Amino acid sequence: MDYGFKGRVAVVTGAASGIGQETALVLAEEGATVALLDKNPAGFDKTLERIRPTGATAKGYACDVTDLASCTEALAAVARDFGGINILCNVAGVLKGGALEGMLPADWKLEIDVCLMGTINMCSAAIPHLKKEKHNKIVNIASDAGRIGEKTMVTYSAAKGGVIAFTKALAKEMGRHWVNVNVICPGTIRTPMTAFVTPEMEQQWARLYPLRRLGEPRDVANGIAFLASRRADWVTGQTLSVDGGFAMV
Ligand code: NAI
Repeated sequence: MDYGFKGRVAVVTGAASGIGQETALVLAEEGATVALLDKNPAGFDKTLERIRPTGATAKGYACDVTDLASCTEALAAVARDFGGINILCNVAGVLKGGALEGMLPADWKLEIDVCLMGTINMCSAAIPHLKKEKHNKIVNIASDAGRIGEKTMVTYSAAKGGVIAFTKALAKEMGRHWVNVNVICPGTIRTPMTAFVTPEMEQQWARLYPLRRLGEPRDVANGIAFLASRRADWVTGQTLSVDGGFAMV
């Protein structure tokens, strides 16, 4: 399937690790120019090394998504370097986890700052660039936790639920500019974020998935690529779970 990414400039946050790294790679494999944004620029080396064989153009930009000025600066640099921005994938996130009783306020604040405020900051900074052409795309990453709630991820669920509601509202706002805004909800994906999942836990959890395994970063990156592509021109405001059937809502 040709996603039509040739000549398109894609920004991926959280691109130094996990799902963000894989998303940058899939978009590069399909011909996009990719700007990697992350607060941990040391992690860009690995992403760039994986992208190199595709021949695609890619460059890293240090950016803290909790800081609007940092987002605005990074996106201005991307637009200067590549002549514009067509796609924004908001993948950066943190999970501290825990029940509300016993959780530290600093931990729930961090989840909300990175997952929810980070997504809002990046969208706000990107809109002036994305509005310049029709058919540009925003793909946000929430979580099944934001759709159904997870008792060990209470404030993370709140942050991700916020991302889902924000996506729908922004899709309505951006429709007149022909900018599509959608959100993907992954199930449990094997990345550094879920390094705490032991092989025994993985076996147990996999039984809860109709497709009987946990996810890989590429499962999610493939869904992001679809929503970021011209194949999804008439899809907006939608929430897509990529989760082996875990949460059928
Ligand atoms: P990860 O921990 O492997 O990667 C997260 C990346 O975000 C890291 O490179 C980190 O440096 C970056 N980041 C964190 N705070 C940042 C900030 N303030 N500014 C810029 N970059 C920042 O995590 P993973 O698993 O790849 O997660 C990616 C997204 O998918 C997150 O939004 C996460 O909440 C979501 N998700 C992950 C699931 C999983 O099971 N791994 C399940 C559901 C959702």
